[in-house]
Amino acid sequence: MPITIAVPKGRLLEPSLAALRSLGITVPEGLDSSGRELHQANGSVTVFLTRARDVPLYLRQGGAHLGVVGLDRLRESGCRATIHARLGFGRCRLVVASPEETGWPLPSPVRVGTGYPRLTRAHFAGSSTQVRIVPLSGSVEIAPRAGLCDAVVDIVETGSTLRANGLVIRETVLESEAVLAVSARATRIAAVRSLLMDLGEEVGPDACMA
Ligand code: PRP
Repeated sequence: MPITIAVPKGRLLEPSLAALRSLGITVPEGLDSSGRELHQANGSVTVFLTRARDVPLYLRQGGAHLGVVGLDRLRESGCRATIHARLGFGRCRLVVASPEETGWPLPSPVRVGTGYPRLTRAHFAGSSTQVRIVPLSGSVEIAPRAGLCDAVVDIVETGSTLRANGLVIRETVLESEAVLAVSARATRIAAVRSLLMDLGEEVGPDACMA
């Protein structure tokens, strides 16, 4: 029975395949970020190329046993998964940011623009700040200037997008990087367990369960 692995296509494809190979997984040849072929198999491993944000869905629905996914996306999805390895690329921070000229904390309720509603609610759940989520799927940093929200929760890598849009970091929600995740149901499959034992120690269960 082949092991199925969901891998993000695009710029994360090459480091994902390199990380899988360095863990000892023999991934199929012929996967190419510029190509249109979205799956390759070599008999023991089948790789599906998906959008990065869809990898948790593949894990949740049984479409893939394993997945290379950002910890931010995995936690946001609520997918039940075990993190087998931290892969050391795709490092970034999920942060709360707001316009430089406004103070922090802001009076409640704070309208927060984000593509991470679950993690945002969880972050503020224990604080005195009440939030109203403004769901956004991209270009989040422009939303305060446009009057859609008072603050944002979004990914920061270099910080240049925040700076260019007059926002400053107020709080950190999560430190993230790419991980190799194993779906909860796949951990019960003998072929998957055997592969994972060959790869060595696992990091442990993810803290966020659906
Ligand atoms: C991500 C993120 C920020 C930006 C941060 O966006 O949402 O907008 O990168 O990077 P920086 O700190 O290095 O400036 P991405 O380019 O992935 O596109 P998106 O807006 O569609 O999410």
